[in-house]
Amino acid sequence: GKNGYEDYMIKEIFEQPQAIRQTLGSYLKGDEVSLPFIISKEELDKIDSITIIACGTASYAGRVGEYLLEKLTRIPVKVEVGSEYRYKDPIIDDKKLIIILSQSGETADTIAGMREAIKRGAKVIGVTNVKGSTVSRELEYVIHTLAGPEVSVASTKAFTTQLLSLYLIGLYIGKERDQIDAEKYKQSIDTLRILPEKISGILNNKKAVEEVASKLSKYENMFYIGRNSDFPICLEGSHKLKEISYIHAEAYEAGELKHGALALVTEDVPVICLSTIEHVFDKMVSNITEVQARKAIIINIRHENIPSIDNVDSEIIIPAIDDLFTPILAIIPLQLLAYYTAKFRGCDIDQPRNLAKSVTVE
Ligand code: F6R
Repeated sequence: GKNGYEDYMIKEIFEQPQAIRQTLGSYLKGDEVSLPFIISKEELDKIDSITIIACGTASYAGRVGEYLLEKLTRIPVKVEVGSEYRYKDPIIDDKKLIIILSQSGETADTIAGMREAIKRGAKVIGVTNVKGSTVSRELEYVIHTLAGPEVSVASTKAFTTQLLSLYLIGLYIGKERDQIDAEKYKQSIDTLRILPEKISGILNNKKAVEEVASKLSKYENMFYIGRNSDFPICLEGSHKLKEISYIHAEAYEAGELKHGALALVTEDVPVICLSTIEHVFDKMVSNITEVQARKAIIINIRHENIPSIDNVDSEIIIPAIDDLFTPILAIIPLQLLAYYTAKFRGCDIDQPRNLAKSVTVE
C-alpha cells in the first residue's frame, strides 16, 4: 500500500535513505566494497573500455556512471541505449566490460543488448532491482539493488540505488587496478555511509521545493542546465518532469546552450540550473548570466559550500559532499520538483499517460 502517502512516487522518493542503507548494508563489509562476485585482478587489468547498456532513467544513471567510473577507474566509458545498441553490430571483445542497468530486469531492448554482449564474449555485470528477473537469471555477475518494489512508473529509488551500485563497481575496479589510494578509498566509503542522512536532510526541506514548483507549474517549456556530472542529473530531472507533469523540458550541458538552444530562452522559459560541482562553478556562473540576460526565471540548485548567485529567482540548497558523490544528492530536489509541479497541475502521478512501468515490447 501507499502507507499514508498520496502517491507511490512520493512514498518511493521518501524511501530512498532506506533503499541506500539496505543496499550498502549488503555490499559493504567493514571498510571494503564486497560485491557478490569476484573478478580476478588479471581479468580486471585486461579491461580497456566499459559500455553501459540501459533505457530511460537507467540510461541516465549510466550517463552519471560515465563521469564517476572514468574518474574512479580511468577506463573510458560509453553509454548506449538498448534500442540502438542491439541493431548496430556492436564492437565487443573480451577486453570490454559491459554493465547492464535495469530496475525491472525485463526491458526488452536492454535484454537484447545484454544477450548480444554475452554471445560476443564480453564480461557482463548486471544491476537490477528484481531478484529472479531475466537480468538476474541470465548473468553470472549480478548486483541486486535493494530498493524494494518500485510501483510508480516514474523511477526514483531505483535510480539512486543504480547510482550507488555504479560507485561500488567503480571503487572495486579502481582499487584493484591501483587507481585509488587507500586514503581516497576510505574517504569514499565514509561518504557512501553518510548518504542516507544527507538525503533525509534534503527530503525534510521539501517545502522549499514545493514553493518553487508552485511558480513553475504554469509554464509549458523549461531548460535544465549543468556541467560535469550535473549534466546527466539534468537529463534525469527533465525526464522526470516530462513524464509526470507533461511540461516540455530539455537538458543541456551548460556550455552547449549558446551553440543553438539559447535562441529558445525567453522570459517564458524557466531555467533550472544545477551548480553542485565546485571545479566548474565559475563556468556555471557565466552560463547562468547568459540565460539571465534573456530574462528567464532562474532556479539555482547549489550545495552549501558554493556561493550563491545574484538575482536568481529561487535557490535550493543541498548539503556539501565530495564532488564525485553529489549526483546522488542533486537528483533528490529534481525528483521533488517534478512531483510537486505535476501535483499543482493536477496530473495522475502514478499512472502518467501513454507510459507503462516495464517495457517488455521492442
Ligand atoms: C522513467 C522510467 C523509464 C524506465 C525505463 C527502463 O522514470 O520509468 O524510463 O527507467 O523504461 O526500465 P528498467 O530500468 O526497468 O529497464
